[in-house]
Amino acid sequence: MPPQWCSFGAQGLAKTAQQVDPAAPLLLFDSGVGGLSVLAEVRKALPDAPVIYAADLAGLPYGTKSEAEIAARVCGLLGRMAERFRPRLICIACNTASTIALAMVRDVLEVPIVGTVPAIKPAAAMTRSGVIGLLGTAATIRQGYVDRLEAEFASDKRLLRHAAPDLVTAAEALLRGQAVDPAVFQRAADGLRSQPGGDEIDTVVLACTHFPLVQAQLSEAFGGGVTFVDGAAGIARRIGVLTQGQSFQRAEGDFALFTGKRDPFSELAPAFERLNIDRSMVL
Ligand code: DGL
Repeated sequence: MPPQWCSFGAQGLAKTAQQVDPAAPLLLFDSGVGGLSVLAEVRKALPDAPVIYAADLAGLPYGTKSEAEIAARVCGLLGRMAERFRPRLICIACNTASTIALAMVRDVLEVPIVGTVPAIKPAAAMTRSGVIGLLGTAATIRQGYVDRLEAEFASDKRLLRHAAPDLVTAAEALLRGQAVDPAVFQRAADGLRSQPGGDEIDTVVLACTHFPLVQAQLSEAFGGGVTFVDGAAGIARRIGVLTQGQSFQRAEGDFALFTGKRDPFSELAPAFERLNIDRSMVL
């Protein structure tokens, strides 16, 4: 018998706005603090929505893992979290997890799932030079999902990809108030600029939710003249559409949920408190 959270053909079971518990949270999920770049936009769009921010710190980083490992972790964890916290909607605020496991998670959970996929479509509409850079994790940039977005929206453009795992580590460190060597940002910019056609890049897709957190540093490394695009505002709009007509009531304060042996909240408190999350729990 499948576990309780498994449901096949779940689309037909969608609740009406009136059936949704006003205290049911939105659950945002990432491997680490990257999803806070998505939460910032969700707060602007839906300030009254109760939120759980879940970070799989025990699994961080996802970008260097295999597809099988990521899919198993994400499906397993989201199943446990959905069963325990009964969210009204789950947002996978992670490009790596979404490009690999979004369809699988949708197959096994009843709850509406919003994913985060590289913003190639808006980038293709914005570029004037026709050359787009894409920074992501190693796992994201090799996905067929990215090939399909490129074929569908940017077939008449040139898309240059570069894996920048050090930017994940840098964003995690910066949000903990730790110093980061600026060479990390320069290496990421050079990874795109040094490819054939790279000097013509005018638009860069930040295809990892950690990267908007270091956009100022990246902008400096690119030396200006580049527009950065990410999916956060679009995701917040999508969540707004899917929760339209539902009421929100914050019964208790929002909280962060971490996997792992210890609770790192004290190191991260300023970053979370800026987004009105002031307590935490370890799963
Ligand atoms: N924040 C995640 C993403 O959007 C990945 C970071 C990691 O490597 O875990 O892809």
